[in-house]
Amino acid sequence: APGLLAPSTNVAQAVADARALAAAAADLDALTAAIAAFDGCPLKTQGATQAVVWRGNPDAPVMIVGEGPGADEDRQGRPFVGKAGRLLDRMIDAAGLTGRVFITNTVFWRPPGNRTPTVEEQAACAPFVERAIQLVKPRFLLLVGGASAKFMLKQDQGILSLRGRWLEWRSSDQALAVPAMPTLHPAFLLRQPAAKKNAWIDMLTLAERLDRPEREP
Ligand code: URA
Repeated sequence: APGLLAPSTNVAQAVADARALAAAAADLDALTAAIAAFDGCPLKTQGATQAVVWRGNPDAPVMIVGEGPGADEDRQGRPFVGKAGRLLDRMIDAAGLTGRVFITNTVFWRPPGNRTPTVEEQAACAPFVERAIQLVKPRFLLLVGGASAKFMLKQDQGILSLRGRWLEWRSSDQALAVPAMPTLHPAFLLRQPAAKKNAWIDMLTLAERLDRPEREP
């Protein structure tokens, strides 16, 4: 019977709905409101208490895209505000990027039990992430964690092989291309402190390019 299946069970329909809503958002406030009202991501009804969209500088030259909100983020309504977020902030500060980042995630609702978001959940949210990139116009993306890097870059290699090199994110219409640096997730770094060295190299690679003159003789 009609209505038995929620529209959100159809990924293609969810993506189409998200595209239309995202396209109509003229600024970040409108985009945030559109996301909060969007019912097409299945995560919305799996225990999340609110949409977690972004924090930071809306004119930032760097956009950081994490995987998805955790418990602290779900509670506070902002991305990367828990333990992993504090480590991320320390790295941002140490690299001289304070106030120069816009922070979001591939999905806007907390996955139950902090599991990795599925590609379907990411796909339903992707038009909003893309719209955020169009509105903020960052020079670079920092893709944090395998689930972010793999989804954003359409790659299937693991994060340990993707990290540390410049790849390119492209909008779905291919009109926009932004250089993207995949890196290790700070939650992983908290469990594997020996990996911090590589994440730090990635952060510095990005910061160095940001401060390099655009054209060199
Ligand atoms: N981990 C993420 O990937 N994103 C957050 O916002 C918090 C933790």
